[in-house]
Amino acid sequence: MAFGKRVKLAAGLDIGANSIKLVKLARKGSGYSLKALAIKELPMGVINAEEIKDRDAVIFDIQSLVDQTDPKLKDVVVGISGHGVITDKLIMDRKTGTEAEQAILFEAEQRAPFDVEDVTLDYHIIKEDVETNKMEVLMVAARNEFLKNYIDLIIDAGLKPVIVDTDAFAILNAYDVNYDIDPSRIIALIDLGLDNTTMTFIKDGLYHSTRDVSNGTRLIFDAVSKEFRLNQELTAKSLRGEMDSSIDQDMFKATVVTASEELIAGLEVAMSYFKSSSGADRLDLIVLSGGGALIPFLPEVLQMKLSIPVEIFNPLRNIEYDPDMFVEFQPEKVAPLLAVAIGLAARRV
Ligand SMILES: Nc1ncnc2c1ncn2[C@@H]1O[C@H](COP(=O)(O)OP(=O)(O)OP(=O)(O)O)[C@@H](O)[C@H]1O
Ligand SMILES: [Mg+2]
Repeated sequence: MAFGKRVKLAAGLDIGANSIKLVKLARKGSGYSLKALAIKELPMGVINAEEIKDRDAVIFDIQSLVDQTDPKLKDVVVGISGHGVITDKLIMDRKTGTEAEQAILFEAEQRAPFDVEDVTLDYHIIKEDVETNKMEVLMVAARNEFLKNYIDLIIDAGLKPVIVDTDAFAILNAYDVNYDIDPSRIIALIDLGLDNTTMTFIKDGLYHSTRDVSNGTRLIFDAVSKEFRLNQELTAKSLRGEMDSSIDQDMFKATVVTASEELIAGLEVAMSYFKSSSGADRLDLIVLSGGGALIPFLPEVLQMKLSIPVEIFNPLRNIEYDPDMFVEFQPEKVAPLLAVAIGLAARRV
């Protein structure tokens, strides 16, 4: 071991339909410190339903984030989610080394709902049981076309994607960095974005499964805009809770309740699927991140409708930083937005 060798961390880059987030961490003792943070909101329509509609605009915004934080920045960890990625769990006979690899790839080919030629596969052995001689393998498959477009975009922005992770694992990683996972509690980490909601389930203190719901806060955004006749900028402001005094709060809450029905129905389906596939009889806690966690009333509406306690995820809970570094905003106020980016930034390269 090289004495005093530093573990190198790349920056976490989270490209969302509503905003792009860039986070740089450094190791500090056994934890982390925040070195840089920048967020850029995108105009509506630049990324729509997980599809990049205006590639040049995204590249330009990534470059401006890099210029703001560290113009020399090159290495980034990025995350993928939604339609482009499939995650599945396989239970198979225990093997090691190349034998394990071959067996896993063979099994993936048999089971996957796609042609293996069209995807890039990765896997991780979650659990090995010596008694039954079985192992639990997590398989991630990303569609090649999707992956290539995404990587090309990042390269065209002048960066080097050193790891491609999934948003679901990034959220899990961010949770692990900031909280002690209580093995007796069954937890759903829910990241609520504009068009995509990533759910990561934790059972027995371990990752269990993940599920993406192709729905997010967009319906709430549109409903608020319509109800209060607000333009895009003011709607965004009201969803940040910055217009409490100028719009009727009861009406705002009623709008959030109605507009979130479809989203909640999607979450319920995903939760019952999790319960039936895991044999869990309950969910103890929802840990909410993403911009949805910051929308006034939304966390309490979810808690009420789903009858599960909702806690707001603070991915900066265990991360040290100097508040003077941030003049434009206070990181803790937007912390839930940063869950994916922080989880990516905490990946060891
Ligand atoms: N302080 C805030 N900054 C940015 N967005 C906020 C804030 N507070 C609430 N929101 C709302 O959060 C939502 C965006 O969440 P988020 O940034 O997690 O989406 P995204 O990651 O860009 O989208 P996706 O993951 O679906 O691609 C928007 O509806 C926005 O109005
Ligand atoms: Mg997101």
